[in-house]
Amino acid sequence: MRIIGLNYGLHDQSIAIIENNEIILSHEMERETRIKKNYIFHKAVNHEIFFSESNRVLYERFLKETKPDDVIAIAGFADTSNSLDTKIHTMINYKKIDLGDTIDSWRNFNNYIIKDKVYHITHHFAHVAYAYFTNPFDEFDVLSYDSTGRWYSAIFLNSEDNVIVDLSYELNLGSLWLFSSWHLRGMEHVDDAGILMGAAAYGEVNLEVYDFLKTFIKKRVIDPMRPGWGSIQGKSQEEKMGVFSDFFTDANKLNKGNDRYKFYFDYCHTLQKVSEETVMELMKPLQKSKNLCTVGGCALNGYINMKLHDLYDEVYTPPACHDAGLSLGVALHANWKLNKNKKIKNKNIAYLGKEYSVTEELVKQLCMNTNN
Ligand SMILES: [Fe+2]
Repeated sequence: MRIIGLNYGLHDQSIAIIENNEIILSHEMERETRIKKNYIFHKAVNHEIFFSESNRVLYERFLKETKPDDVIAIAGFADTSNSLDTKIHTMINYKKIDLGDTIDSWRNFNNYIIKDKVYHITHHFAHVAYAYFTNPFDEFDVLSYDSTGRWYSAIFLNSEDNVIVDLSYELNLGSLWLFSSWHLRGMEHVDDAGILMGAAAYGEVNLEVYDFLKTFIKKRVIDPMRPGWGSIQGKSQEEKMGVFSDFFTDANKLNKGNDRYKFYFDYCHTLQKVSEETVMELMKPLQKSKNLCTVGGCALNGYINMKLHDLYDEVYTPPACHDAGLSLGVALHANWKLNKNKKIKNKNIAYLGKEYSVTEELVKQLCMNTNN
C-alpha cells in the first residue's frame, strides 16, 4: 500500500511518499518556493486566509504524484471552515472526520483514525512518529514540544507502552519563544525563535527577565487550540494574542536600561537558560530509558539537546523535527499501522528531498558573494 503524507495549511508545507516500506519522497515546499516557512498570513489582507505559494506548489505536486489507490495521511486537525482547507480537501477528496471536542482519542500513540482512505493522527503524534520510526534505538523516550499543535503543546512517551504524558501545561516553551520573538522583534517577523537562540550566546543573565519568564511558565499557559480553551479560529492574530496579553503587558514593564542591544542579548541569553532549566527539571522524573528522541519545533534548540546528554546516553533529533517533518511522520505512522512496518528500509534520512548539483557556475557565484 502506497502512502502519501501531507502537511498543508499554516506553514512548513511538505509532502512525503512511502512505498514498499521505503521513503521515496520527503520534500518541503520552501525548497521550491524559497519562501521561508510561508505562513498563510504572510500576505493576508484583513487576516483573510489565502492560498499561499507553498500550498499551491504542494497542490500541484500532489496532483502529479498521487495514484488512485494511495492512502492519504494528514497530520493535525483539518477545519473545513476556511477556504484554504476547503480547496485542499477538494483536492484529496477529504470528508471531514469528526474528532469530537476531546483529547481522549489521543492518549496513546497507537491511536489513529482512517476514513475513506484518509488516515489521520493528531499533530504531535506525527512529530513523534517522525522520530519514533527513524531513530537507531531498540527502546527509547520521546519528547515532542512546540508552540501549538492540536491537542497538545508538549508530550512525552516511552516506546515500551506508548502512553502519552501530557506536558502542555508545564512546557509551553514554543509559545514563550514565539511571544518573546514578537516582543523583541515585532510580529511582522512572524517567528524568529532561531535568531533569538543565536543572540543568546552574546548576552548574560538578566535577573528581572529571569523572574518574568519563570513567572510566565508557572502560569501554565496552554495550547490555545486545546478543547475547553474556546475556539479562536477566524480571529485576527492580535485577537488571538489578546489571550496572552499579560505576557506583553508585563514584558513592556521590564527595565530595558539605556543600551537596548544589551537588553536584547541578555533577554535572549536568559530565555535560553530558563528553557534549559525547565526542560531538565521536567525530564528528570519522567526518564525511563537511556535513549531520548527530541522532536517538534523546540527540538531545533540544539543547546537543550546538548544539555539533555546530562540525563541520557544518546539523544536523537531527526533533521526536519519542525512542522516540515509532519508529512513524513504521519506517513510513517500509517505505514506502521496499515502496512505493519515498524522500521523503514531507508538507512539514513538526513539526505531526503531535492538534490542540488554543484555546477561551475554555482561555485563562481558563491565565490563572488564571499568576496563581497
Ligand atoms: Fe509542531
